[in-house]
Amino acid sequence: MADSPRAFVLRHTRLGPVPGLEEIRLHLADEVLPLWHVVQLETRDPDAALPYWAFAWAGGLAIGRYLREHPETVAGRRIYDLASGSGLCAIAAMQAGAIEAIGADIDAFAGAAIALNARANGYRVTVVRRDVLDDDPPDVDVILAGDCWYDARLAERVLPWLIRARDRGIEILVGDPGRRYLPTDELVELATYEVRTTTELEDLELKRGRVYGLGPVVRRDGQAVPPRDRDVNAW
Ligand SMILES: C[S@@+](CC[C@H](N)C(=O)[O-])C[C@H]1O[C@@H](n2cnc3c(N)ncnc32)[C@H](O)[C@@H]1O
Repeated sequence: MADSPRAFVLRHTRLGPVPGLEEIRLHLADEVLPLWHVVQLETRDPDAALPYWAFAWAGGLAIGRYLREHPETVAGRRIYDLASGSGLCAIAAMQAGAIEAIGADIDAFAGAAIALNARANGYRVTVVRRDVLDDDPPDVDVILAGDCWYDARLAERVLPWLIRARDRGIEILVGDPGRRYLPTDELVELATYEVRTTTELEDLELKRGRVYGLGPVVRRDGQAVPPRDRDVNAW
């Protein structure tokens, strides 16, 4: 790599407000394909991942809006932003009063972007730059998962990990615009927002971003039942 990831992010993005969450500023790009091409050249990897980290995705935008409206969800709590990308959800959580935020992403450029973006907003976010989905869930109070259901392989690993975390008492918030692999049966919808994204990434500039909790599902008799133990006849 010619540049460090940090220098690369700085060189190819512009610091600016996030549409609909103007109180947050991120290092963002305008166009995805030219930047992807530069990433492929920089990493000498034709299969390099899309530069997810250079955009605020619809799922993360929905979580950001939800935390602005419901700061009590994270205030005074330790949060973990899974598949953090730009760090948007972690930063929104810090802004809502979280006492500690960790952003986890497999992408080296995302690691640099999370740190740069946190700093640009006056916060510190700890970066975990690896795949954590085979690890035990982290010791935190809330996990935020913004826009993780765009890929079949990732989707099939994220849900079991989040269920394990939920079963240990961690609160889970999912943000998603209705991606193909979203496991809606497992989720409880909390809020919907119209979020402004870009046709560089999506079919429409305005998307409906939903925020969900992950059970426990409460039965009519008031008992909480993890989804995998559900007996549909009892509902
Ligand atoms: C669509 S982006 C969402 C970013 C951010 N949450 C948002 O909403 O703007 C998905 C992110 O997941 C990351 N990712 C993919 N597989 C991952 C894994 N196994 N563990 C952690 N992050 C992963 C990608 O690198 C990418 O940054």
